[in-house]
Amino acid sequence: MIRLEDKYALSFLKEDDIASLTPALQTADGYIRNRNGAGNDFTGWIDLPVNYDKEEFARIKAAAKRICETSDALIVIGIGGSYLGAKAAIDFLRSPNYNSIKKDTPDIYFTGNSFSGDDLKEVLDACEGKRVSVNVISKSGTTTESALAFRFIRSELEKRYSREELKERIYCTTDKARGALKNFADAEGYETFVIPDDIGGRFSVLTAVGLLPIAVAGCDIDGLMQGAAAMREQCFADGLNNVAYRYAVLRNAFYNQGKRIEILASYEGAFRSMAEWWKQLYGESEGKDGKGIFPASVAFSTDLHSLGQFIQDGSRTMFETVVRQEKPVNTLTVPFDELNTDTLNYLAGMTMNEINDHAMTGTLLAHLDGGVPNLMLTYDSRCEYTLGEMVYFFELACAASGYILGVNPFDQPGVEDYKRNMFALLGKPGYESQKEALENKMKL
Ligand code: PA5
Repeated sequence: MIRLEDKYALSFLKEDDIASLTPALQTADGYIRNRNGAGNDFTGWIDLPVNYDKEEFARIKAAAKRICETSDALIVIGIGGSYLGAKAAIDFLRSPNYNSIKKDTPDIYFTGNSFSGDDLKEVLDACEGKRVSVNVISKSGTTTESALAFRFIRSELEKRYSREELKERIYCTTDKARGALKNFADAEGYETFVIPDDIGGRFSVLTAVGLLPIAVAGCDIDGLMQGAAAMREQCFADGLNNVAYRYAVLRNAFYNQGKRIEILASYEGAFRSMAEWWKQLYGESEGKDGKGIFPASVAFSTDLHSLGQFIQDGSRTMFETVVRQEKPVNTLTVPFDELNTDTLNYLAGMTMNEINDHAMTGTLLAHLDGGVPNLMLTYDSRCEYTLGEMVYFFELACAASGYILGVNPFDQPGVEDYKRNMFALLGKPGYESQKEALENKMKL
């Protein structure tokens, strides 16, 4: 269950700030239910939790089992929506230190998400002498970061394994019919999984994009889908009053007040990568046409010792959404110390979770005094079902929020600009005139 508390935010809003958004919410709800808003070609995620390919789901589980049996390490190659969800889920469900914990599942390395040769080399070195499988994920099949990493990794694996053996070790998640990766996979006989046409990268964590790596990490992907299905059912049953729409409306109410930054704050290390996933979901969906709330994130309490000053006291352009975990995985109780040289005996007998909760409440009240509205989202515990609920909650809220804002939440025209310039500067055939124009610009 995901709960949204707004009592620490409402004092910043007038009744009309929310009520005036009702017509926009009604329109957004219509677009979502009828799949007739901008970007409606990319609304496959709405029914995905109850309408997914069961045959492929079974193949994903079988592939994950095979990878676990035959591999010490899985290398996941992908960028943006083609890796953030899987990384978020594995960190949240298992551990942000997944590769260092004791486990009976393979290590998982994420690469192909930058042009850093150092990062790539580290992954290659870490896999030295290990039995390796690869999951390369790219909807277009042509994303340069991922395609380059795949080239390096393939050339390494070709030294270790025969072409036949690689068929059992390389898994491609891509478009069902088109693209360089699909063509290559088919030619080599690699097993492929599908990124559905109607689901964009940032909404794809509950497709094979996320599910295969998540299953390899030993997580229960049935539970994940069940949680998402339950949240879907609850939201559609609750109509305009559902929890996701409430979050969408409140965000827009703050935006209309000039709050241009949303800070997603969490007190659990395991949530950090979820915040990265959330940033892409909201940043790519809303930041366009000169509009949008900039999605930022902090990990407390560590960032209270760095960004805390700014949030408390800096320019008043932000609101915070605090993500609270109700039940910890482990209960650590502060021991009593006879000497008490650290003067911490007043905490003896308290659990770390209780201390964390008090730190959160204290911070929240201080930030309110500093003029920062706070929303609070509570989830039960770090389990698959809860994660499924949370994914669906954030996706639905994002779609509604984008429509209320008046943008197409499902496109990302702006991401092409850096690529055009980069291709021109790298001398990609077909970009000759842009290269000249850019070089002239650099001389200015
Ligand atoms: O959300 C998106 O569409 C992007 O983040 C893409 O997922 C990312 O650019 C990777 O694209 P592709 O899967 O085509 O390699």
